[in-house]
Amino acid sequence: MSLHPSSKAGRFTESVIREMTRLATLHHAVNLSQGFPDFPAPSEIKEAARGAIAADVNQYAITWGARSLRRAVAAKFERLYGVPVDPETQVTVTCGSTEAMIATLLAVLDPGDEVVVFEPFYENYGPDAVLSGAVPRFVKLRPPNWSFDARELAAAFGPRTRAIIVNTPNNPTGKVFSRDELEQIAGLCRRHDALAITDEIYEHILYDGTSHVPVAALPGMAARTVTINGMSKTYSVTGWRVGWAIAPESLSGAIRKVHDFLTVGAAAPLQEAGALALALPDSYYGELAAAYQRRRDRMLAILEGAGFGPHRPRGAYYVMAEIDGLGWEDDVAFARHLVEEVGVAVVPGSSFYENPADGRRQVRFAFCKKDATLDEAARRLARLKPR
Ligand SMILES: Cc1ncc(COP(=O)(O)O)c(C=O)c1O
Repeated sequence: MSLHPSSKAGRFTESVIREMTRLATLHHAVNLSQGFPDFPAPSEIKEAARGAIAADVNQYAITWGARSLRRAVAAKFERLYGVPVDPETQVTVTCGSTEAMIATLLAVLDPGDEVVVFEPFYENYGPDAVLSGAVPRFVKLRPPNWSFDARELAAAFGPRTRAIIVNTPNNPTGKVFSRDELEQIAGLCRRHDALAITDEIYEHILYDGTSHVPVAALPGMAARTVTINGMSKTYSVTGWRVGWAIAPESLSGAIRKVHDFLTVGAAAPLQEAGALALALPDSYYGELAAAYQRRRDRMLAILEGAGFGPHRPRGAYYVMAEIDGLGWEDDVAFARHLVEEVGVAVVPGSSFYENPADGRRQVRFAFCKKDATLDEAARRLARLKPR
């Protein structure tokens, strides 16, 4: 009988995050599970997308990305971080940073290669490793600061290590890796001739004066870093599916080939709008971060008031919260209770760990929501009774 899924597909489950969004709709719950904003995207970007469609930018763009967007990506990275990027050879535009990550892993890893992943991790990295045939080696980030043990990290690197995935600012923890931590990672990459693959899609969502350090900006690291980013979070357009990878020329060709045969290209008119978005003035990013800091503070107050033990994020737009103070010891049962009985959808902590037991007492709240949504969540969570 050949009508069975591949062993690869059998080795990971459906996305818990996206499943929670479906349950939220089913139970008319306030959806604080999936990380998408429920407020409007900037009007000038929407106008640019409409304009591109009206101007008939409606056929395939160059497979590795419209020249205007590649130029904007390169110019912005150089302007903000001082790292020169050649848009002709180093930038590949993809269908979201999700595709940039899997295309990169498929382009650089062979079956049996090892890739170091910090945990808790963004849930896509697990299936991404399976699909690329790589063996993930997990290194723990521990609260309250979500710091890692330098010896544990060094021990995770070995002769088969090809790459490390670094997500900063981090989902789900809100950790922003410090320059010192990134230097340690860079040192290990150099020592083991490994690649850093960085997911920096929350680069502008930073709190309390924290700054973002791209790994590629560290001395000598541009030559061994693939920097992944996208429009989804910075411009509140998660449904547009426009992302990119900035890679050294030696790897770019492989990433472009994989990308071409996976998807051909991202939506052409939305790439044109992306070129305009990336040229927005610095004030746009300052306002974005300030608005998110207000939402973060509100979310923390709501969670503390409702009896959770929230960890204060320094970046990105999620709060990991401990649930044992409410008398719950099983994140999945708690998340089900919350969506069905209280009317708030969250993500069970276990979905961010290799060993589900490590996340049993945590759930993740997304606060990329308008005030009215957070108000309603506050009203509902106030009814939550400790067990
Ligand atoms: C760390 C991280 N990487 C990637 C993504 C997906 O980004 P995109 O919409 O660009 O595919 C998300 C979305 O939540 C994320 O949190």
